[in-house]
Parts: sequence; C-alpha cells; structure tokens
Amino acid sequence: MTQIIDGKSISAQIKDELKTKVAAMKAGGKQVTLAVIQVGNDPASSVYVGNKKKACEYIGIKSLAYELPEETSEKELLSLIDELNKKADVNGILVQLPLPEHIDEDKVISAISPKKDVDGFHPQSVGALCIGQPGFVSCTPAGIIQLLKRSGIEIAGKECVIIGRSNIVGKPMAILMLRENATVTVTHSRTKDLKEVAKRADILIVAIGKPKMITKEYVKEGAVVIDVGIHRDENNKLCGDVDYEDVAAVCSWVTPVPGGVGPMTIAMLMNNCVESAELEAK
Ligand code: GUN
Repeated sequence: MTQIIDGKSISAQIKDELKTKVAAMKAGGKQVTLAVIQVGNDPASSVYVGNKKKACEYIGIKSLAYELPEETSEKELLSLIDELNKKADVNGILVQLPLPEHIDEDKVISAISPKKDVDGFHPQSVGALCIGQPGFVSCTPAGIIQLLKRSGIEIAGKECVIIGRSNIVGKPMAILMLRENATVTVTHSRTKDLKEVAKRADILIVAIGKPKMITKEYVKEGAVVIDVGIHRDENNKLCGDVDYEDVAAVCSWVTPVPGGVGPMTIAMLMNNCVESAELEAK
C-alpha cells in the first residue's frame, strides 16, 4: 500500500512548534524579524512572497516588506542589503529570485550577511554545509529531510538517487543525504540510462522541472519518491515532475503535488529565521 507523505500536515506541525518558540521569545523581549525584498512584480514571485508573509504572520514573526520597482539598480539593491545587514533588529534577509536581468544575482546573494542568510544561498553557507559546519541550509532540501524523518523513513545506509543538480535543490540535497549516511547518486541531463540509475534508488528525489516526466519505469518497487516539481498540466491542474498516479502503484511512500514538498520550503524558511534570532541572542 502506498503511503502519502503529508507535507501540509508536517509543515503545519513545524509552524506550530515555531509559533510557541516565537511567543516565548517575544515574552522575553525578542521580536523575530524577517526582511523580504522583491524587485519588480513577477506574478509567481508575488505569490511566493505573499505566502512567506502569511506564514510570518501566523507564527508571530514580524515581516518587513520591500517592494522595489523593476528598474531598481543593482547599486540601490546592494545598499538596501547593506543597511539591513547592519540593523540589529533584522534577523533574516530574503531577496526573492529571480531578479531582473540587469542585476547580478550572485553579487546580491553574496552581499547578504551569512548571519542573516535564511535562504542558505550565500557561498559561505553552502561551504559550511559541505564541510559539516554550522550555517543556514537551503530550505527545500532541509524540508525534504524533515519530511523523511517525521514520516519515520530511515535514511542511513539507503541508496538515494537525486535527479537534478541545481544549486538550490540538487546539490545541497546530496550533501544533506550524505550527512544522514545515505549512499548518494546525483543525476542530470547528461546521465546515461537514467531509468536504470533511478531504479537503484530506495529514496528517489526528483527536481528536474519537467511535468510528469518520472513514470513507474524509473521507480523500484517499494521506493520512497519525493517530488520537488510544481507545474500546471494540460487541464490547468497542479502537477509535479512525477507522474503521481503511475508511480503511486509501485512505490511505498510518495509526496503529493500540491501538499508535499512545497509547504515545507516555507516552514523551513521560518525555522531559519527563528534559528537566526536564537543564535543572535546567545
Ligand atoms: N525563488 C524561487 N525559490 C526561491 C527561494 O527559495 N528563495 C528565494 N529567495 N527566491 C526563490
């Protein structure tokens, strides 16, 4: 029987835990604060930013919204980041991506203080993750670890295959699974015999950005399947990188879309903000 990994309920549980923590911090005189910067008004970004603000509100985190016009210069953005880096009452800084083309994303990410890098995108955060030092971890991969652990799925010693090698998901995911003592394979567009490689997985994590590409031919009987993708199908219905109905027939656990990985990303962002405030208080 296939079991559903319920990201909606697991993320709600994490958010409730954080809400309690934030209330206790507030009682001790500490207000957790996140600065959210959006440049331009890409509709998808506006939805994500709106969801982040809503989560902050629910948990009791103060969110400072900076909605900058599309034509904001790189210099102006960098100077805002510099100002927020120096503000003692700001615990986290999030710059929503993608940025307009005239702004260098790498430069912007590197300008955020690693102490406030709640997205975990700064080179120092990524480096720390690689060598097992403390630092913020990218929210989607961190959320996937929570999904597995809180569903009681063992990771140590398992064969984990990751499809996709992005800086935000695939690469940090590989490091995190390694940290949990899985045997990790990272595949990508140039991988030969992807189906055969994917079929080795006890835990298959898919982040390729292609709607319903992963069918049961890629999945070993009894595998755990984690779907990071989010798309609209031909009927305008939300779907993932995994063909859910097809794969559900062979796997032991699967994340739905929506309600799987998606809500975990925001929960882990909130977790990073709270952690940042806690570290600063020490
Ligand atoms: N754009 C898409 N995903 C993300 C994310 O996790 N963080 C930021 N800052 N921008 C994004």
